[in-house]
Amino acid sequence: MAKLWGGRFELESSALLDVFNASITFDQKLWRYDILGSKTHARMLGRIGVLDSSEVALIESGLEKIASEIEQGSFRFSLEQEDIHMAIESALIEHIGDVGKKLHTARSRNDQVALDCRMYVLDHAVLIANKLLTLIQALLAIARKHTHTLMPGMTHLQHAQPINLGFHLVAWCESLRRDVERLESLHKRNNLMPLGSGALAGTPYNNDREWVSKQLGFAAPTRNAMDSVSDRDFALDLLYALAMLGMHISRIAEELVLWSSAEFGFLRLSDAYSTGSSIMPQKKNPDVPELLRGKSGRLYGNLVRLLVVMKSLPLAYNKDTQEDKEAIFDSVESALISLEILQAVCESASFDKKAMLKACKAGHLSATDLADFLVRECGVPFREAHHITGRIVAYAESQGCDLSELSGSELARELSKLAPKLESTFAKSAIDKKLSLLASMQARTSLGGTASKPTSTQITSLNAWVKKMRKALPKLKIEAKVENE
Ligand code: ARG
Repeated sequence: MAKLWGGRFELESSALLDVFNASITFDQKLWRYDILGSKTHARMLGRIGVLDSSEVALIESGLEKIASEIEQGSFRFSLEQEDIHMAIESALIEHIGDVGKKLHTARSRNDQVALDCRMYVLDHAVLIANKLLTLIQALLAIARKHTHTLMPGMTHLQHAQPINLGFHLVAWCESLRRDVERLESLHKRNNLMPLGSGALAGTPYNNDREWVSKQLGFAAPTRNAMDSVSDRDFALDLLYALAMLGMHISRIAEELVLWSSAEFGFLRLSDAYSTGSSIMPQKKNPDVPELLRGKSGRLYGNLVRLLVVMKSLPLAYNKDTQEDKEAIFDSVESALISLEILQAVCESASFDKKAMLKACKAGHLSATDLADFLVRECGVPFREAHHITGRIVAYAESQGCDLSELSGSELARELSKLAPKLESTFAKSAIDKKLSLLASMQARTSLGGTASKPTSTQITSLNAWVKKMRKALPKLKIEAKVENE
């Protein structure tokens, strides 16, 4: 088949070239954006007098017909059409004849692809941000139920201090909140409209770029034609944000894997989101969190992949950038499905409060509270308090119990041996109450701390932020059905 650009060529292109050169197999995902951009371009050409109103109407109706064919699955994509831009343009010419040949006036595929990709990136940043908000809300609803559920807080994956489960879940949410903010800010930075940049140097027509920009919901037209057709940093912004999101999801997933193991036993995954083993009939495997953890590989990979493609490219457009699309689509699709299934896994899982409490009793989690008591109520210098506490912990070990399980009199007796001058203070201190796991958790009332009250405050303010953000997120350029294509 003759190419739309075939005028200066004597020979037909080789079949091998068609395969190698084409992006139609993957860039067809951009069809809605391409049609939206083309319609707007046609209207703009009408406004500046390049097309008359009947030509604009004919082009628009042709494009709408193509849209419904693609939507219904009757449109035939073929390799010879090379990419989504040519596929739609040649179908338009087929449908409406010679007027269709006028659509490509005052634009180039270079600014056309820059526009399509940018709209895809911006819309999907918003879609992912919205999904993240939904996930955060779901996690906060679980957190709300668990502001008194004790669990061991860890550092170095060793039991450290008692916290509540709600507090732990809020920590997850805080990292996801920054992911939303990254998506929002990349939208703000990149919401600039490249069409009308032409191949690289602008056009000799008086393109009304301001008007096109407004029509498509951009803040303004891009400012330099060469830069507009050449850079893909707007896509890299998204790939970076999604790599970071992937890192956060992977850390959460790792905890789900650990918590659902026999060693922890904090959590049971629902059967609906667990898998079995083909050989070991007793097994219930956390494949979903494992895959969520694994997805970070492709999210990081796609970022590095496009960074490498872009490195050293001279201005302006280079075909290398066609390699941006699969990276973008793959990261977007991985992020969307990951967020959805992570939410489902968390909402359907059940937490084992008893197992978490039992775990709190291993590791003398209230040791810091004893040291704080010695400093604050007995005037012992911190280093000394640290040493005395260490001795008491050794005593508890020798008794085969946890520090939080020693009785008041036992504690007063053992402490007095180590600091005889303070014997009477110890005797009336009711120190055992302070060393209970619950008291230890509830003592941490500082702003952002784990006590139930500051945890609830964190939940409330994060929920309020979610509501505010939901309203503040930018509008989609295409409202319908862009999500899972
Ligand atoms: N399929 C191409 C891409 O994705 C579209 C732009 C082609 N431009 C060109 N001058 N060959 O980058």
